[in-house]
Amino acid sequence: MADAGPIRVVGLGGSLHATSNSLAALRLALEGAAEAGGETEALDIRELDLPFYQPDAPDVPPSVERLCTAVAGAQGMLWSSPLYHGTISGAFKNALDWLQLLSDRDPPYLTDMVVGLISTAGGTQGLQAVNTMEFVVRALRGWAVPLVIPVPKAWQAFDREGHVRDRALEEQLRALGREVARAAKQFAAGPPLTTAGAAAAEAALQPLGDEGVA
Ligand SMILES: Cc1cc2nc3c(=O)[nH]c(=O)nc-3n(C[C@H](O)[C@H](O)[C@H](O)COP(=O)(O)O)c2cc1C
Repeated sequence: MADAGPIRVVGLGGSLHATSNSLAALRLALEGAAEAGGETEALDIRELDLPFYQPDAPDVPPSVERLCTAVAGAQGMLWSSPLYHGTISGAFKNALDWLQLLSDRDPPYLTDMVVGLISTAGGTQGLQAVNTMEFVVRALRGWAVPLVIPVPKAWQAFDREGHVRDRALEEQLRALGREVARAAKQFAAGPPLTTAGAAAAEAALQPLGDEGVA
C-alpha cells in the first residue's frame, strides 16, 4: 500500500462554556490521533466564535474561512458536542451548517473523510447526540468510524479545570483518536472510496445546494 504522507486530523467541538467537558474530551481524542501519527488541530467552538450561518452571506467571515480551510485539508475529523436537550448543541450545529461552503470542494463536503464521534452529557443519553452527528456525517459524504464515545455524567468524568478523572474514559477517547488516524491513513493510501457512480447517485438523491441536482 502506498504511503499517503502525513494524515491531518482536525477536531471540532466544545461549547460556549469557558470550561467545556466536550472540548476536554476532544483534546484527549486528538492526543490519541497524534499517538497514531496524525498531525492534529483543535477547532474550539468557543474560540472560533462563528457568526450564525447565513446562506447568502456577502463575504466569508475569517472564522468561517479558518474552519473550512482546516476541514478541507483534513483526512480525518473528530467531532465532540455536548448533549443539549437530547441532541447536539446549537453552536455545534451552526459550525456544521457552515460546512455547506464545502459543497463546491472537489470532491464535495467530507467525501472519503473519516469522522470519530464524541458527546458529553450530564445524564446518560449522550448516544442521541452521537446518532444525530452520524446523520450529518452521512449527509456530508463522510464515513463515521464504528467506535463512538458518548460520555455520561461528564461532570464526574472531568474536573472543573477540564482534567479527566476517569482513566478508562481517557483510554477510550485516545483509542477513538488512534482509530480515526489509522482509518484515515488507510483511506488515503488507497484509491478513492467513493466511486464516480456512487457520487452521481448521491448528488441526485442529495443535491449539493439550493440550485438542484449537481
Ligand atoms: C442548555 C443545556 C441543555 C442540556 N441538556 C441536557 C440533556 O438533555 N441531557 C443531559 O444528559 N445533559 C444535558 N445537559 C448537560 C450537558 O450535556 C453536560 O453538562 C455537558 O457535559 C456540557 O458540555 P460542555 O462542558 O462542553 O458545555 C444540558 C446542558 C445545557 C447547558
